Amino acid sequence: MSPHLVATAAELRSLAREAERAVVMTMGALHEGHAALVRAARELVGPEGQVVVTVFVNPLQFGAGEDLDRYPRTLDADVQLAGKEGADVVFAPSVAEVYPGGEPQVRISAGPMGAVLEGAFRPGHFDGVLTVVAKLLHLTAPDVAFFGQKDAQQLSLVRRMVRDLNFPVEVVAVPTVREPDGLALSSRNRYLSDSERAGALALSRALRAGEQAVPQGPAAVLRAARQVLEPAAVRPGGQGLDVDYVALVDPGSFAEITDDVWRGDAVLAVAARAGTTRLIDNVPLHFGTPHPAQHPGEAR
Ligand code: PAF
Repeated sequence: MSPHLVATAAELRSLAREAERAVVMTMGALHEGHAALVRAARELVGPEGQVVVTVFVNPLQFGAGEDLDRYPRTLDADVQLAGKEGADVVFAPSVAEVYPGGEPQVRISAGPMGAVLEGAFRPGHFDGVLTVVAKLLHLTAPDVAFFGQKDAQQLSLVRRMVRDLNFPVEVVAVPTVREPDGLALSSRNRYLSDSERAGALALSRALRAGEQAVPQGPAAVLRAARQVLEPAAVRPGGQGLDVDYVALVDPGSFAEITDDVWRGDAVLAVAARAGTTRLIDNVPLHFGTPHPAQHPGEAR
């Protein structure tokens, strides 16, 4: 069935139900990764619940020279896909509806976790993301909000904001959806030429290599990932990947893991440019019992 397509907060309020409400926030150009989020939302709230998909290209999270103007806008197809996957409502507000006072003077600060990795390459990006996520949480008033693991730093920051600022919402993470050859789905993949796309596969290969090295510990994970990325790096005058970072971080703080006997959860994250397209990818890891050769006090 076709979902209700609404553009204003007032219309959205008029569709509120007593039942549980889930929200999936997107910037549109929906693909199978978003479909997985909508399906997970529908499954969690059940047939009586309400699934709201927001479609809003948030100017606040794009830096100067980034792809705000060319970001794909495909609302008709988005509404169709959202409806097919079980959304009841698509909320696609205008910039004026979301920011009625113009550029907001008061914003959410992402703090230190928002200044590293993606934040270091895209200053202000996460302040813009969290500001719009906070606003969309107020406007949609969901019980549960779904975010993709693909944007791991965003996910951690949203969790942190919800906890630090007492938003009454549960945050659920949904695993990254990949093409059969490993490329993580992203609305930006459509910018890639065939050869850029082929080169971009080194990102997921590097993550897989890192994953396989988990039993050898954090340093080995980073080494394995870098070994895959090095030959894929851009050569002068040629094509390839311009790698911004490969990092192993604590998902709670996004601080880099420097301790080679680290135990617990971690995220191996990569970012690179293929031509003019910036791609990010990551894999969640878990370090269990350390490798015997890595117990403190034992010989290496
Ligand atoms: O992940 C995205 O698509 C965006 O950052 C979000 C969460 C919809 C905020 O604009």
